[in-house]
Amino acid sequence: MGYAMSRRRQIYEGKAKILYEGPEPGTIIQYFKDDATAFNGEKRSTISGKGVLNNRISEHLFLLLGRIGIPTHFIKRLNMREQLVREVEILPIEVVIRNVVAGSLAKRLGLEEGTALNRTIIEFYYKNDKLGDPMITAEHIAAFGWATEDELHDIEELSVRINDFLQGLFAGINIRLVDFKLEFGRLWDGEFSRVVLADEISPDGCRLWDSDTNEKLDKDRFRRDLGGEVEAYQEVARRLRILPEDGTPQVLNLETHRKAKAKSKE
Ligand code: TMP
Repeated sequence: MGYAMSRRRQIYEGKAKILYEGPEPGTIIQYFKDDATAFNGEKRSTISGKGVLNNRISEHLFLLLGRIGIPTHFIKRLNMREQLVREVEILPIEVVIRNVVAGSLAKRLGLEEGTALNRTIIEFYYKNDKLGDPMITAEHIAAFGWATEDELHDIEELSVRINDFLQGLFAGINIRLVDFKLEFGRLWDGEFSRVVLADEISPDGCRLWDSDTNEKLDKDRFRRDLGGEVEAYQEVARRLRILPEDGTPQVLNLETHRKAKAKSKE
């Protein structure tokens, strides 16, 4: 860690990121850690190299979304682990968008994982670790003032556009966008504010399955003890063409992981 970092004021430390005060008022630096947690922090580990990959993947996706007119907090990537973003008031809502049955939806309703949904489902969760991020409805959001009606309308509209775009993008690299989580923030401009996409989009908060084999290329590898997390995240980055294509020898892949695993079972 460079000296510059130690001089910066830390604003917040989350499970996978640290936020520092940015160089100018209204800016924040997002630092991507290698820490991984699951099940509301019950399961913890570090996945060496994860932060670097998530920083790159999220930068790439936010830039592409920005180009199609999605307002985001993203300004620019600063280095391997940090990006400069606009300071926003994060709304206490996690938005989950689902295209395929998986995870908690499968569990809660007794459905089989992998069934394509005939329409996209948008779910809301109240962002509160102490309560384990309980599922909520638009009624709760309105009643408790977590977002205004206009803000919620924008969130839903943006979520649908983001899903349409990302589903197509991933389909083009042979990946099924099963589900993913978004966070939004209030960006203030004088006395007015608007809702913008914030946080990150990375394999930490998405389910990404290989279209042919259904192989998991996301954090479920960690949640379900499958191993090969970094290899899977690298595979996503490689398919998005954001890894150097020079055959860097230290770049691992899932094939290497599968072989090593098969060998250890012999
Ligand atoms: P779920 O099936 O466990 O509800 O997860 C749905 C999606 O949301 C999945 O892609 C993972 C992501 N997610 C997060 O990013 N953070 C969380 O705390 C949870 C529970 C899910």
